[in-house]
Amino acid sequence: MSDVTFIILGMSGDLAKKKLIPALYQLINKGMLGAFAIIGTGHEPHTVQEILERAKPYIAAVDEAVFARLVENTHYQKLDCSTPTDFATLAHYVEQLEQQCRLPGNRLVYCATASHFYSPITQGLAQSGLIDKMSSRGQPWQRIVYEKPFGHDLASAQATNTVIARYFDEQQVYRVDHYLTKEMIGNIALVRFTNCVFEPLWNNRYIENVQIIVSEKIGIENRGAYYDAYGALKDIVQNHVLEMLALIGMEAPEKLTGEHIRAQRAKVLEKVRVVDALLGQYQGYQQEKMVAPTSRTETFAAAYLAIDNERWAGVPFFIKTGKYLDKKETVIHIKFKQVNCLLTQNCPSDSNYLTIQVAPDSSFFLSLNAKKPGEAHQVVPVKMEFCHSCLFTNGIPEAYEVIVQEVMRGEHAIAVRFDEIESSWKVIEAIKALPLTLYAYEQGSTGPDQMNDFCTKHGFRWRS
Ligand code: BG6
Repeated sequence: MSDVTFIILGMSGDLAKKKLIPALYQLINKGMLGAFAIIGTGHEPHTVQEILERAKPYIAAVDEAVFARLVENTHYQKLDCSTPTDFATLAHYVEQLEQQCRLPGNRLVYCATASHFYSPITQGLAQSGLIDKMSSRGQPWQRIVYEKPFGHDLASAQATNTVIARYFDEQQVYRVDHYLTKEMIGNIALVRFTNCVFEPLWNNRYIENVQIIVSEKIGIENRGAYYDAYGALKDIVQNHVLEMLALIGMEAPEKLTGEHIRAQRAKVLEKVRVVDALLGQYQGYQQEKMVAPTSRTETFAAAYLAIDNERWAGVPFFIKTGKYLDKKETVIHIKFKQVNCLLTQNCPSDSNYLTIQVAPDSSFFLSLNAKKPGEAHQVVPVKMEFCHSCLFTNGIPEAYEVIVQEVMRGEHAIAVRFDEIESSWKVIEAIKALPLTLYAYEQGSTGPDQMNDFCTKHGFRWRS
């Protein structure tokens, strides 16, 4: 457990309010932090009390004594990311605080801002001495976390990365995607490669298609300005969906460790090809706050992707995501091919599926055909289920708690390598280059009606 100074850039934003502050609270509550100080920054003046009170509703089961400890150790500084002298003032403040609190100078900087600030932030942190490149090789450690989406297209991601590479050592850089720290997603590689029953079937001989679904009931909430500039493809597909696809599609890593897994994810992402896509926008989106009244931003995206390698030739990867849909669900269905039916009648209507449910519950299940009781020749679909969240009732940490802990430990498995990001942006740009219509859909529905034609055209059905 190391003593640490957390510096959260973008402390008054949505991510800090809903995820980072609650995660830090939980780490304090679970006794997982040693001595610490939190310094939040934002471009508006705020009081600590004000910022933390706004985050309080997002903290599960608040214990007032723990919350008081959070308040006591949190500080706030106004900072404009494009003003170098603001970084110098912050550096001075941090040094003084570390001396006062006897903190050793281990620093975790979390960029919870829009990604177009990453270059000036990187420069500001380096030039003010807040993050020292040399610290990557010794004590105290100093690390910087960049939230997704990294860039808003391939060119901007590359430009930002060039600035980062100029100032920091790759060992101190964490480009994070919180989906990689979700329990069930961390479980994919483990289950695939520590059981011999899956790997022999994990290829185009046995798998008919793979479906990756991130469905959300919520809309864009108060994030109109951000969302309208990004949309579903850049907000969810470029990162969360493609990282899940990479974990399903990758070859066996040499060892199940961070660097080997990242290398395999990167290799498979390079081979992704876009076959077709469908985009939608929920009705009423153009009337949302901070959204352009004529906006053509998609709030729903589905695509047919292929992986051009021997293992996956001919296997479609169907992906879909959307806001204001009928349910909250993050799920991966692996559909196996149908066997030749040896029954003389009542052949099973569907094949086997391996389903990895990430949310709302964490579970794996295998859908099989089994004998219907009392009927000699009739089968019914049954499930073999492993319910992760039922079995490990109080041990599943939230994704952002894991990010903070792993960065403190210096573990890179939870972070995304830059070549993965580059390949993902290429996929998004290929989708955007297609001549697509933007279809409207009703809030609370399953998406645009035109999805039925998309399914017919590509000969598949979404598993519900
Ligand atoms: C974030 C997106 O990365 O993921 C949000 O910016 C989305 O738009 C969220 O709502 C979904 O995350 P989770 O963990 O709730 O599935």
